[in-house]
Amino acid sequence: MTHQRKRILLVSNTGQVGAELWRSLQSLGDVITVDRDHPTYPVDLADHSQLRHAVRDVAPDIIVNAAAYTAVDNAEQDEALAMAINGTAPGILAEEAKALDALLVHYSTDYVYNGKHVDKPYVETDFCDPRSVYGKTKLAGDEAIQGIGCKHLIFRTSWVYGRYGNNFLLTMLRLGQERSELSIVADQIGAPTWSRLISDATTQVLVQLQSALCPHSIEDLSGIYHLTCGGQTSWCDFAKAIVSHLPNPPSVFPIRTEEYPAPAPRPAYSVLSNDKLAETFGVRLPDWDVALDVCLSREQAKSIFR
Ligand SMILES: NC(=O)c1ccc[n+]([C@@H]2O[C@H](COP(=O)([O-])OP(=O)(O)OC[C@H]3O[C@@H](n4cnc5c(N)ncnc54)[C@H](OP(=O)(O)O)[C@@H]3O)[C@@H](O)[C@H]2O)c1
Repeated sequence: MTHQRKRILLVSNTGQVGAELWRSLQSLGDVITVDRDHPTYPVDLADHSQLRHAVRDVAPDIIVNAAAYTAVDNAEQDEALAMAINGTAPGILAEEAKALDALLVHYSTDYVYNGKHVDKPYVETDFCDPRSVYGKTKLAGDEAIQGIGCKHLIFRTSWVYGRYGNNFLLTMLRLGQERSELSIVADQIGAPTWSRLISDATTQVLVQLQSALCPHSIEDLSGIYHLTCGGQTSWCDFAKAIVSHLPNPPSVFPIRTEEYPAPAPRPAYSVLSNDKLAETFGVRLPDWDVALDVCLSREQAKSIFR
């Protein structure tokens, strides 16, 4: 029996998750990336006809969309652009995926929930009530994909960090070396999630779906899945765990959200239950503190500091 390699379109490999997907998806098939600066396929998600043309040209079996307008605070003043990228573009990808009978993999956020749950992790069927413009635009993207009804997997993740891009881990490592004291918000609770684990879990799920042994069709398994590290913490305790890896860690003091005003409101509690992913695909990420330790293990930390 010949096994045909899949043709995978990765929409942007320049972000935290996209850079990791570029590596992990290689095991699954031929990965073709498009991004804003790509010499052959320059794609700006706000330019929907450019996006359609790129998908039609590549004609993939799988589309993985790792691009999004992720500047949560800026989105409050930039709703039209954030909606074009986060709300409308995923719908365009879904339409093109449906026409090609391709699978669309997309990422969403814990910020689609309002954060009013207390110590009760959100499940995929919980009511969405985003507090920020970013959350509203991401929810619009999820709904567009579901409404169009292509084969799809929407992975809702949270508090993403990693070795690339702008993220809390790299900011804390930098500030932790510049300052002797840090004041960090302690009344927002969530689950920090390493971008590498998101990409590896995505690939594991895709490998299962391609397997002849998978008893279900992709249509049956289409839907929203939470994909975060386990456990929960506050930004303050996350910061403490990060800087504890520094040779001379600063003191970290807890503050309330009101003491660090930001344009976009954040949910106070956005822990997601990962049971659906575990029950469907047998995939469960480690707890956030274990993942952080692995991410900051000696060899990797060296390259972070380089
Ligand atoms: N970061 C988090 O804490 C977090 C939490 C929950 C969910 N998520 C979701 O996880 C996914 C991946 O996020 P991430 O943290 O990897 O994002 P990221 O590091 O901020 O990267 C964003 C990516 O989107 C691309 N992009 C932005 N605007 C674009 C446009 N107009 N046209 C084409 N590409 C564009 C960027 O390309 P350039 O390099 O050209 O800017 C970059 O590749 C997103 O769907 C995000 O909503 C993230």
